[in-house]
Amino acid sequence: MNDSSATATTRRAHVTGWGRYAPSQVLTNADLEKMVDTSDEWILSRTGIRERRVAAAHETTASMGAVAGLRAIRTAGIEPDDIDLILLATLTPDYWMPSTAALVKEAIGNTKATAFDVMAACSGFVYGFATAQAYIQAGLAKHVLVIGAELLTRFLDYTDRSTCILFGDGAGAVVLSASDEPGGALGIELTTEPQGAYMIWLPAGGSKAPPSAGTIARGEHFVRMEGKETYRFATKTMATTALESIRRSGLQPSDIDLFVPHQANVRIIEAVAKGLDLPMDKMFVNLDKYGNTSAASVPIALAEAVNEGRVKVGDNVTIVAFGAGFTSGAVTIEWTADPARGIAGDAAVRPEDVSVRLPVDWNSVDPIPEALAEVMRRPGSIDVPDDVAPGEPERVRREVHA
Ligand code: ACO
Repeated sequence: MNDSSATATTRRAHVTGWGRYAPSQVLTNADLEKMVDTSDEWILSRTGIRERRVAAAHETTASMGAVAGLRAIRTAGIEPDDIDLILLATLTPDYWMPSTAALVKEAIGNTKATAFDVMAACSGFVYGFATAQAYIQAGLAKHVLVIGAELLTRFLDYTDRSTCILFGDGAGAVVLSASDEPGGALGIELTTEPQGAYMIWLPAGGSKAPPSAGTIARGEHFVRMEGKETYRFATKTMATTALESIRRSGLQPSDIDLFVPHQANVRIIEAVAKGLDLPMDKMFVNLDKYGNTSAASVPIALAEAVNEGRVKVGDNVTIVAFGAGFTSGAVTIEWTADPARGIAGDAAVRPEDVSVRLPVDWNSVDPIPEALAEVMRRPGSIDVPDDVAPGEPERVRREVHA
């Protein structure tokens, strides 16, 4: 571990920074109607999703994660080199190796941090958050950058209407900082139920089914899912996991000011609200704009909720997720940071100023799936960055690697 000034007395993990990034291209339900036998009405009524974002050809999980991470660092008012641990949650890494976290470390200009990826599918960010809290409580880190970043649109079968309508791309991040002040992260609950291991999975490319012409021909490099089973698990586990985290925090569900759930399906979120006997206005929902961005969904939603004024100092916030594995996780947080800082933090980092170094002999194929080629040829539907407030302070300029 790196040199850190955290001591045994600075044992609480406070969220001091948050940031998000969503690519500019929008894939609407109307676009999907042209690709598969589906309808805007079906998608909206069964999931609540209206549109999702698609990363451009030059973007990767690492590049989106680096932008969100730098924004969180700016919001926290620290420098990239103040970070001593980088945890990046993803199921869509840039490469099998090295870790995407290592690429992000270089892209943000950090020279000191330990960096590694966290793999727990859509629960990955919450697992990373809990790991960061444990490092801080153990006195092993002072500032931890936890990122959730996904580029799912390159791992979807655009002939399978049961999966391709659900997912989108993006990244979100928080900085957790050690402090001996009260508040910050409170109770954690994480679960793993491997009987659901093959309910959401990506069959090929690993050691069980290495890539081959056969695995490609059979479409085994795409996400597969048993929607109904996953739905059943999600509605049950999201409520029980959140409840356990709240109980471990010494609180009741009625003490929670805002839930930030994994954004998979609004019907799942409604079922969780019902299970906890809470009104829907305590549930933050933005999946209509982004779809399911897996490990990125909770940090994007958290950053957006705070920037929209849904969280104030002293509020109790519960983040809760479920995903492949089956995994689930929840952390309850007493919010202590000035919510107004986030918009300036996002505005201070332009995506075009952040780059991930490529290998010298890289000769990649076009990464955009054939089915999305036409959508990607039109101008970005949203200006980049999509969340800059006018008149914000100077922007961070990062060295662009050749
Ligand atoms: N458009 C139109 N019809 C469709 C579509 C579509 N996109 N997809 C499925 N259908 C059809 C089915 O074929 C079926 O037709 P049939 O009755 O003639 O057989 C009918 O619609 C109903 O299908 P169901 O699967 O029963 O639909 P359901 O109401 O369960 O909704 C959904 C499906 C949205 C996938 C839901 O089950 C769900 O949200 N599950 C959870 C998925 C999830 O959250 N996954 C993320 C996991 S997190 C991670 O780690 C990646």
